[in-house]
Amino acid sequence: MKRRDFITKSTLVAAGVGIGLAGCKRLITPAPVPENERIKVGIIGLGDRGSTIIHVLKQLPEIKIIACCDILDFRLEEGLAKINDKAIGYSDYRKMLENKDLEAVIISTPLFEHYPMVMDALDADIHIMCEKAMTYSIEESIAAKLKANQSSKLFQVSYQYQLNPTFNAIKEIIQKGYLGKLTRIDAWWHRNNNWRRPLPRADLERQVNWRLYKEYSGGLMAELGSHQLNMIDNIIGSHPVKVVGTGGIDYWKDGRTVNDNVFALFDYPNGIKASFSSILANKFEEQTIKFYGDKATIVSNRMDEALIYPEDDNDTEWNKDVDAVTGASIKIINKDKGRRIDIPKSFSRNSVFDDNYLQTTWLLYKNFAAAIKGEEPLVMGLKDGYQSSISVHLANKAIREETVEHWLPEYDV
Ligand SMILES: NC(=O)c1ccc[n+]([C@@H]2O[C@H](COP(=O)([O-])OP(=O)(O)OC[C@H]3O[C@@H](n4cnc5c(N)ncnc54)[C@H](O)[C@@H]3O)[C@@H](O)[C@H]2O)c1
Repeated sequence: MKRRDFITKSTLVAAGVGIGLAGCKRLITPAPVPENERIKVGIIGLGDRGSTIIHVLKQLPEIKIIACCDILDFRLEEGLAKINDKAIGYSDYRKMLENKDLEAVIISTPLFEHYPMVMDALDADIHIMCEKAMTYSIEESIAAKLKANQSSKLFQVSYQYQLNPTFNAIKEIIQKGYLGKLTRIDAWWHRNNNWRRPLPRADLERQVNWRLYKEYSGGLMAELGSHQLNMIDNIIGSHPVKVVGTGGIDYWKDGRTVNDNVFALFDYPNGIKASFSSILANKFEEQTIKFYGDKATIVSNRMDEALIYPEDDNDTEWNKDVDAVTGASIKIINKDKGRRIDIPKSFSRNSVFDDNYLQTTWLLYKNFAAAIKGEEPLVMGLKDGYQSSISVHLANKAIREETVEHWLPEYDV
């Protein structure tokens, strides 16, 4: 294909679908898997995330849900009704883990419950997919990691956004040096709502709104920040070495005990600095990451698309009308001379979902199933999830105790 044709074609694709990422999805129908090859899993926690996982796994025949568990009767009933295959319902997860047919467990309960469930699942000697953040505290994360290090089974913490094609294209662009020297990353996840969920029954405030209470939750840093920190660690290839922060309950003074705003600064090796902010009183540029290099800046909103802004308009690869960068096509799309990065086909993956959240979750579980079968390695693995968990807790500690926190040698387990 001639260069000009390529530009026109990519431009048309981008114009037709609106944004770069959507243009590179390959939607497929999943192939059936013989019954005896399906991996038998159980899910603990059938709330928002558990329901999403059930929905996603309906389109992943490699995995068969044979058991599920929730302490709330109506959640258990709703969960069982959503599962395609015939599953056994439990109200006590320990009883579920005694089911000898289980090969893997999915833990999608509130954060404070992750640790006992992980430890019991390790004792049951089955594969684990645990929702983020890995555990509620640094001590729990270390203990769980040490125990998991002795296991031959897989342990994945659920950070699905690393499977996003936009994220992987950004990563490659940075690794190939097109941003020059990366010195800073700013990330935020802002909302303009109280972060509350409606109560199905008046007595269920703490069970349903567990995120708002510090005995159960790591607040905004754990629930939202951990996703962004996980991507930042992965781009930099390291964990933070020092953290400071601030935050408070300053807007939603409604009885919650976790901060309604957090802001933390992270020092990484080689002088790279990162920041994460989350607020619940403004949603302008809701979910954004900015990567600053001495040659260019990349801005991504929601990881749906990415724009690149060269520092010097006359002296950069980015001024050409087509790529030279990972096969991506670029074009100026706004008055600030931002260029949209059209994610090249090589970054796209087969998926049955068009929606970003569902697509990346499906890809995460597809990889988990393939890794259990020994067909491919886990995309992230335990070290990755462990690291993000420690980063979250260091930031929360720095904010709550107004301290400067350091990554200590004893965290390297
Ligand atoms: N990866 C992601 O993008 C993503 C998105 C949303 C939530 N999450 C994570 O998923 C987890 C659950 O979040 P959620 O929004 O689904 O919460 P939720 O409150 O909607 O659901 C949690 C469910 O767990 C059940 N539960 C609590 N204790 C239990 C126990 N001991 N045994 C069995 N069931 C129990 C609750 O009754 C509830 O139904 C959290 O760790 C959260 O951070 C991840």
